[in-house]
Amino acid sequence: MDPLVILLCLLPLYPGLAAATPSCPQNVNISGGGTFTLSQGWAPGSLLTYSCPLGYYPSPASRLCKSNGQWQTSGARSLKKAVCRSVRCPAPASFENGIYTPRLGSYSVGSNLSFECEDGFTLRGSPVRQCRPNGMWDGETTVCDNGAGHCPNPGTSVGAVRTGSHFDLGDKVIYRCSSSLVLTGSKERECQEDGVWSGTEPICRQPYSYDFPEDVAPALGSSLSHLLGATNPTQKKNENLGRKIQIQRSGHLNLYLLLDASQSVTEDDFQIFKESAAIMVDRLFSFEIKVSVAIITFASKPKVIMSVLNENSQDVTEVISSLENINYKDHENGTGTNTYEALNSVYIMMNNQMQRFGMKTVAWQEIRHAIILLTDGKSNMGGSPKPAINNIKEILNIKQKRNDYLDIYAIGVGKLDVDWRELNELGSKKDGERHAFILQDSQALHQVFEHMLDVSQLTDTICGVGNMSANASDQERTPWHVTIKPKSLETCRGTLISDQWVLTAAHCFRNAEELTLWRVFVGDPNSEWGKDFRIEKLVKSPGFDVFAKKDQGIPEFYGDDIALLKLAQKVKMSTHARPICLPCTVEANLALRRPQGSTCQDHENELLNKLSVPAHFVALNGNKLNVNLKTGSEWTSCAQVVSQDKTTFPNLTDFREVVTDQFLCSGTQEDDNPCKGESGGAVFLERRYRFFQVGLVSWGLYNPCLKSDKNSRKKAPRGRIPPPRDFHLSLFRLQPWLREHLQGVLKFLPL
Ligand SMILES: *[C@@H]1O[C@H](CO)[C@@H](O)[C@H](O)[C@H]1NC(C)=O
Ligand SMILES: *[C@@H]1O[C@H](CO)[C@@H](O)[C@H](O)[C@H]1NC(C)=O
Ligand SMILES: *[C@@H]1O[C@H](CO)[C@@H](O)[C@H](O)[C@H]1NC(C)=O
Ligand SMILES: *[C@@H]1O[C@H](CO)[C@@H](O)[C@H](O)[C@H]1NC(C)=O
Ligand SMILES: *[C@@H]1O[C@H](CO)[C@@H](O)[C@H](O)[C@H]1NC(C)=O
Ligand SMILES: *[C@@H]1O[C@H](CO)[C@@H](O)[C@H](O)[C@H]1NC(C)=O
Ligand SMILES: [Mg+2]
Repeated sequence: MDPLVILLCLLPLYPGLAAATPSCPQNVNISGGGTFTLSQGWAPGSLLTYSCPLGYYPSPASRLCKSNGQWQTSGARSLKKAVCRSVRCPAPASFENGIYTPRLGSYSVGSNLSFECEDGFTLRGSPVRQCRPNGMWDGETTVCDNGAGHCPNPGTSVGAVRTGSHFDLGDKVIYRCSSSLVLTGSKERECQEDGVWSGTEPICRQPYSYDFPEDVAPALGSSLSHLLGATNPTQKKNENLGRKIQIQRSGHLNLYLLLDASQSVTEDDFQIFKESAAIMVDRLFSFEIKVSVAIITFASKPKVIMSVLNENSQDVTEVISSLENINYKDHENGTGTNTYEALNSVYIMMNNQMQRFGMKTVAWQEIRHAIILLTDGKSNMGGSPKPAINNIKEILNIKQKRNDYLDIYAIGVGKLDVDWRELNELGSKKDGERHAFILQDSQALHQVFEHMLDVSQLTDTICGVGNMSANASDQERTPWHVTIKPKSLETCRGTLISDQWVLTAAHCFRNAEELTLWRVFVGDPNSEWGKDFRIEKLVKSPGFDVFAKKDQGIPEFYGDDIALLKLAQKVKMSTHARPICLPCTVEANLALRRPQGSTCQDHENELLNKLSVPAHFVALNGNKLNVNLKTGSEWTSCAQVVSQDKTTFPNLTDFREVVTDQFLCSGTQEDDNPCKGESGGAVFLERRYRFFQVGLVSWGLYNPCLKSDKNSRKKAPRGRIPPPRDFHLSLFRLQPWLREHLQGVLKFLPL
């Protein structure tokens, strides 16, 4: 049949086609390298969102397709052409007791601003600041202070104007932002008795600015400067632990996740909210703490998906599956944004829980509450959310002493057009902290969330908790890692497996006569957090004998290359010193969130679950390096390469004589190779935000390190014979020996 005929036949069957619903015109391209997405195609109700390359921002940020098939033009007669404009950083509106150069109306990305103080004033903050691609200056507000007040000079951040120039007890300072900038932080601050300003530093932002995760880190509080040993005179140390979500064993945390599902948040953005919420939940539960998670979605009305009164709110699987099943369309009949009602539903939930426990009970009073609002902040119904927040504060009895029992975070994630003003209104205000963020994706949120968590109260021997933040120090990332320092120069590494025991390689102790002179260094080598420990007891595996196979033409053999050290004292647990999880123990089983009754074999199946399993070890300089552990058939091809090492093993007939099944094998392709001094260290991997040691660095065919330089490693040349290979004792194969010596130290699962 002729195609034209088909078309003619079909047309009459769809009489409505001619009068189809209107669709918005497609002449909405953005110039300057931008792109756009549509929430529901070109149909009415669809929200068009523009995005631009780094260093540019879209103007307008979005458009709404109205029911008449026209784009909303917000007052203007005709549709304005969308363009990507260059991001600019604001100029200082005032700078006291000093000068800044250059003086411009605004600054392009990459340009610098230098500050100098007049005689008699000391510069605090950053002397030079650079304009970043998000429209924010890097560094900290520059202040020229003569230290005359009871409180330090609070300074004036770039773009802000301050009234109030007395800094004595009870004095107030008030800020506003120049021109089109939006104030975030506290408008008004008061000099308090403890020498600290109330509230949080006000920052003037371009309305289109957003946060990089690394900006958020320093803003989140003093703990970072604590760690770096830097002092920030605007902050009193020790006193404000409240800024973060405290992870501790005693007590209970209620986390309320509020997800904005209103019209202004597209379905794609809502998906990012869900993803972000799931990441936060999964991470929180990784600490084995008492936590309940409430989930509320909201648009014109709130919908409680999970209440803290529901027992399932304490079960990570239930919480995550409820999150996954949330439907954006739940709010299709009321797409406004009623932030007040959403917060009020949290208040009601709190009230119910208080009724249940009793207002005066410890069980109620010791609960900490964290509210996380994932939103674009554009509420347009229900009035100001403030009264709901006030009710919440009242019911939780939040006053100065109990300030750290409530934190409210307002976070925009995704390609949203966010209202900074409102986000700022919603977030808590605490000195030296920020509670309102705008981030570009869920990965960025993950980084920020790492910083929102305060694990300093986690002082028991919870295993395998490493800091996963990009800004954490090496030792914080791998707090189980220790250095073994014999009398001679040759060193080995080891791993804390409890608060008093270290696992390492037996070959480190070939000449261990004067054990009293050996030390184990625990903690951060670059700071005061490190500490030397004496060794009380060394337990070497009796099976280890490096010359055992000399007669067979194997000059060195590393079977059973394992040893345990008992330290003379217990290690105090901290963010810099914590044990790793040893598989096949009850502790590891909890960390893996596996059911009771799991076996050692189950752990092996879960941890070494692929032919090539990504894992890590720690380098001499503290870096975490990458390897792939080969299993099954890949193990054979990885290990048999030893036969090519004719220098060491000239007469080898069966490679299994050297690489027994006690060994894990790595070193193929892009793998890093451990150096000599890295022996004894852990080969470990991550599951569900926790770390598990599966092997122990023992020996290899190639040493990538040059003598005396911790930081230089050389890759093996391509085509080298033999190719590089590394062999690590498998902790799964050494279970009987571990069990014999760690009885009473760790609780083991059945094999
Ligand atoms: C918009 O841009 C796309 C891709 O660059 C192009 O194919 C299309 O023709 C443009 N439309 C208009 C109306 O300019
Ligand atoms: C600003 O300073 C940085 C570091 O000091 C420098 O790399 C950069 O080139 C400077 N930018 C300009 C525009 O001078
Ligand atoms: C929205 O309203 C329609 C018509 O009243 C109804 O069929 C639908 O179930 C409603 N949707 C929701 C999620 O309540
Ligand atoms: C990770 O380290 C950062 C920076 O030191 C710190 O702010 C954060 O609280 C730590 N988070 C966790 C989960 O340990
Ligand atoms: C965090 O790390 C980034 C690079 O990953 C760095 O630029 C930034 O200065 C760091 N921030 C802090 C507070 O250390
Ligand atoms: C290897 O075998 C040859 C010949 O049997 C012998 O001379 C040599 O000593 C052996 N090498 C080693 C390291 O045992
Ligand atoms: Mg909205």
